[in-house]
Amino acid sequence: MLSKIRSLLEITDFTVEEIDELVALAMDIIANPKKYADVCKSKKLATLFYEPSTRTRLSFTAAMMELGGNVLGFSDAAASSVSKGEVVADTVRVVENFADIIAMRHNKEGAPWVASQYASIPIINAGDGGHCHPTQTLADMLTIYRHKGRFSDLTVGFCGDLLYGRTVHSLTKAMGRYRGIQFVFVSPDELRIPDYLRRDIDKKGYQYYETDKLEEAMPRLDILYMTRVQKERFDSEEQYDRLKDSFILDMPKLRHAKDDIIILHPLPRVNEIAYEVDAHPGALYFEQVRNGKFIRMALIYTLLKWAEEGRRPTSSANLVEASPCGNPRCISTVEKVPAIYTVHADGTRHCIYCDALEGSQPSHIP
Ligand code: NCD
Repeated sequence: MLSKIRSLLEITDFTVEEIDELVALAMDIIANPKKYADVCKSKKLATLFYEPSTRTRLSFTAAMMELGGNVLGFSDAAASSVSKGEVVADTVRVVENFADIIAMRHNKEGAPWVASQYASIPIINAGDGGHCHPTQTLADMLTIYRHKGRFSDLTVGFCGDLLYGRTVHSLTKAMGRYRGIQFVFVSPDELRIPDYLRRDIDKKGYQYYETDKLEEAMPRLDILYMTRVQKERFDSEEQYDRLKDSFILDMPKLRHAKDDIIILHPLPRVNEIAYEVDAHPGALYFEQVRNGKFIRMALIYTLLKWAEEGRRPTSSANLVEASPCGNPRCISTVEKVPAIYTVHADGTRHCIYCDALEGSQPSHIP
């Protein structure tokens, strides 16, 4: 088990150097789009979207078109064989006959990982449940690079739904690898970052603190990353209604911010950023969308090139089989896949699909 081909399932599948190279390539694409207009001619991208999406799917589609390639796929699982009960492992073994690379979004955590085990073509995780979203992270990083010129020595505040906000999880893992990064996690108590992530960042010694007061954190921040409360991940409407308006960013709250603060949001926005903030010079959420297309062009081009060169993943993970994962959002609870865990240096075991700690209870909102 373990794929023989390079994919992007989580942001840490790419080294810091590889991310720097992707960002440099995206910058070159921005400067010289004509140079890349044909580089994926005769290649096909399949977009398999089991969950709603506007910008991510269109961004992948536009990216492949601008590289001269073609796109096929589905944006509604109900209209595909999935509705007949087909499992991910079978779907990708079918689709690989029609495409050279797959971008998959799934409501179950770890579904793209399962896909990567069966497909002979690269898989890109376009968001899996409340777990991770590495290509949004790449879009965020290109935006940070274009405005801050660096990934080091920055204080990054994440605000909103940090429990289910997959973009937060991936960006934390990505930025934590650079020097001089500090995190401030701003959320209501019920939506704090998941335990597995807190354990991970504790182990790695990242600098962070958690608060439920955005105003208190504001003066320190170089980057404020706002997020939507993820309605679709809640068990009940009542829980969502109670938490949905926990933080609303408006101009009075920005009064104590640094002059050069940048404000990011993966979008869609519901009402966590007042429209008046759009005129703030640091409000970059629509630029993030644009950057998302360029970095996805860089990613598709790179993964296809690596596939042709036969580059293999350099994973040294220590894997064991154990009892089934307790996270109800994990792909292993709905499809017949072996219960596999990665063993970390401190002996803790994390589900290979969704990262949940072995034996942990599902995240619970009281
Ligand atoms: C995010 C996602 O799908 O996780 N959106 C996106 O891809 N740009 C954030 C969200 O849905 O709130």
